[in-house]
Amino acid sequence: MTEPSTPGTGPDRIFADPRLAEIYDDLDGVRDDLDVYETVIAELDAARVLDIGCGTGVLACRLAQRGLDVIGLDPAAASLDVARSKPGAQSVSWLLGSARDAPRVGADAVTMTGNVAQVFVTDESWSAMLTAAKGALGIDGHLVFETRDPAFRGWEEWTREQSIAVTPTASGAVESWVELTSVELPLVSFRWTFHFLGTGTVIESDSTLRFRDLDEIESSLTRAGFTIRDVRDAPDRPSREFIVVASRTDRRSETGQER
Ligand SMILES: C[S@@+](CC[C@H](N)C(=O)[O-])C[C@H]1O[C@@H](n2cnc3c(N)ncnc32)[C@H](O)[C@@H]1O
Repeated sequence: MTEPSTPGTGPDRIFADPRLAEIYDDLDGVRDDLDVYETVIAELDAARVLDIGCGTGVLACRLAQRGLDVIGLDPAAASLDVARSKPGAQSVSWLLGSARDAPRVGADAVTMTGNVAQVFVTDESWSAMLTAAKGALGIDGHLVFETRDPAFRGWEEWTREQSIAVTPTASGAVESWVELTSVELPLVSFRWTFHFLGTGTVIESDSTLRFRDLDEIESSLTRAGFTIRDVRDAPDRPSREFIVVASRTDRRSETGQER
C-alpha cells in the first residue's frame, strides 16, 4: 500500500514521519559534508552553537562531544526523537520549533547544514529566519550555512534512474528513489519514495526547495544585517554548493568597540 505525501504546513514527511526519521541517517550515509562546519567552528573559536534545522542531530552531537555548548532546533518532532537517542545527545539542548523561534542565546555560531537554507521558499520565511538567526547570535557571532548553487542545476540528476538504491536500515532493507515533480525556478519540487521491502509499505514524501544565487544571498544577508566574510566550496561536493560564513554587520570589531 502506498501512503501518499499529504501537502500541508510543517516539516516535510521525510523529516516528520517517525518511520522515515528512523532511517534518515542510514539513507544519508557517511556525513563527511559536516567536516567543513567543524573546521569553520574551530576557526571561529565558537563555544556556543545553535544548529537550526538540526534534524537527527548529527552535527549537534559531534560538537557536544567536543565539549561545545550546543542547542539543536528543528520543527520535526520525529527527527528530534532520533537525535535525543544518540551518544552525546544528553548534553545538547533540543528545541522543537521553526527557525523563526530561534532563542536569543548569544551564540558564537548559528549553523544550517544539509541545505536547510533551501527550505525557506518564500522571501518572508527567508528573511524571518535571518532576523531570528541574527537575534540568536552574540554581537561577534557568525552564521554558517550552505545552499546549492543554481548554476550547477543539480536537480537534473534527481531522477529515479540515478537515485534508486536499496539500503540496509534499522527497519530492514529500504528501496528509495527521488523524482522531480516540478521545476519552476527558483523553486524545485520533488518526491522521495521509500519502499520498505520487508513489509511492503511504501511511503512518499514531497518537498520544495528554493535555489538562490550568490547575488540574492548577499543582498538578503545585507538587508538582514549580515556581512559575508567568506564563501567556500564544499570539499565533498566541489562546485555544487556555496558554504557561506557571515558575521553580524554591527559586530564590535567593525564598530571599533573593545571586545
Ligand atoms: C535536509 S534536513 C537537514 C537536517 C540536518 N541539518 C542535517 O544536516 O542532517 C532539513 C531539516 O530542516 C528542517 N526544517 C524544515 N523547515 C524548517 C524551519 N522552518 N525551520 C527550521 N528547520 C526546518 C527539517 O525538519 C529537517 O530536519
